[in-house]
Amino acid sequence: MDCYLVNGGAKLSGTIQVNGSKNAALPILAVSLMTTGRCAFHNVPAIRDLQTQVKILNTLGIESQWHGHTVTTKVVDSYNSIAPYELVKTMRAGVCVLGPLLGMRGQATVSLPGGCVIGERPIDLHLKGLAALGAEITLDQGNIHVKAPRGGLRGTTIYLGGKFGSSVLATDNVMCAAVFAKGTTVIECAACEPEVVDLADCLNAMGAQIEGAGSPRITIRGVRRLKGVEWNVIPDRIETATFLIAGAITRSPITVAGGRPDHQLAVLDTLRQMGIEVRRSGTRMTIVPADRPKATEVATLPYPAFPTDVQSPMLALMAIANGTSIITERIYPDRFMAAAEMKRLGANIAVSNGQAVIQGVERLSGAPVMASDLRAGAALVLAALAAQGQTRVSRIYHVERGYERFEERLRKLGAQIARVPEEAVVAAEAG
Ligand code: EPZ
Repeated sequence: MDCYLVNGGAKLSGTIQVNGSKNAALPILAVSLMTTGRCAFHNVPAIRDLQTQVKILNTLGIESQWHGHTVTTKVVDSYNSIAPYELVKTMRAGVCVLGPLLGMRGQATVSLPGGCVIGERPIDLHLKGLAALGAEITLDQGNIHVKAPRGGLRGTTIYLGGKFGSSVLATDNVMCAAVFAKGTTVIECAACEPEVVDLADCLNAMGAQIEGAGSPRITIRGVRRLKGVEWNVIPDRIETATFLIAGAITRSPITVAGGRPDHQLAVLDTLRQMGIEVRRSGTRMTIVPADRPKATEVATLPYPAFPTDVQSPMLALMAIANGTSIITERIYPDRFMAAAEMKRLGANIAVSNGQAVIQGVERLSGAPVMASDLRAGAALVLAALAAQGQTRVSRIYHVERGYERFEERLRKLGAQIARVPEEAVVAAEAG
């Protein structure tokens, strides 16, 4: 198994191009289930999660071709509507085929996603929304079966808020199912994330009638069918934030190109509070590094507030900030696995009740650490870039679920990072 070897302290320079959004592409590829026409999706990141999604769609009768960052699809059969446990267990977001299948084929079976290291990943809001449209829902041997009533799904008003506020993929699933429901559906307390807007825009390009995406109230007027589509997925705002923090933590004036600054306002505001300005020119964002970031406080909340997926990378930056910072995690209160590993690098972080208090230190020191999920893994790489000495990051398969050619792209900015077989490194360390 490979690991990343990072020699910290290098200044970075140059420009890094942002890829398409993983979290937009996952539900958008699933719209291929909602038409008999061919589709072409551009700016799809070549990462493991999307490869998994293509495999799930393949088992559901979608034949796809992947060329570079374009995925083309066509329906070859629509008889199987069972998303396989073996694939969905490796990627919880596979649950996003539920709404498209229910709307298009009248039924779907998806394994109940288990939990993961960032916390329990329930789907009660997904099921509440689909049931409100008239679906019959049963749970059998760990599988969720949803089935439309004989007369088809019927539009209604659905309040989709949960104890953590809105749900991104629940909003996606209900929106997709409602596209073919009779009458009008209103989703109240819908997720406002840009990835939901991208999905709605793509569905409208196929002939759907969706209004209000990006606001807490989305209205969907039922239609009879959708045509195929050619669609460009939006840039990845979480990858953008990750690379901006790579510049900030190494005090390097790098440019992140091809992103959407308007999707980045909470992160840019937090960096500004830390004394780190970001110069914007069109889709290009250039870090104006501070000598040493200032401590600040931030809470993760649904969009447009500070994103939970940037919490771990921000933890790395706060670990070297001047003063005491606080991150309050309001989406996944247990999502602090990165903190324990950062302490191995010398960070001073106390976690309790969904909050991390970070006493910034002058300098981190390299050590062997282990990725636990994709964002924590990326955060450990960022911390390693700023640490003195060598850091080995293991279980990098987590990182590669969500970041394409991560170490190669950082190396192009001047980072001293390599992807090497871990056994060789451990053997060398053992002498
Ligand atoms: C999406 O997951 C993202 N994944 C996650 O990104 C992201 O962390 C999350 O939204 C929050 O922004 C994709 O888009 C593929 P939620 P999703 O439903 O939709 C609770 C990454 O790193 N909840 O918005 O699954 C849930 O437990 C990944 O790229 C319920 O209680 O998240 C959480 O506390 C990780 N019941 C909160 O809502 C439900 O039925 C928000 O979850 C659904 C969710």
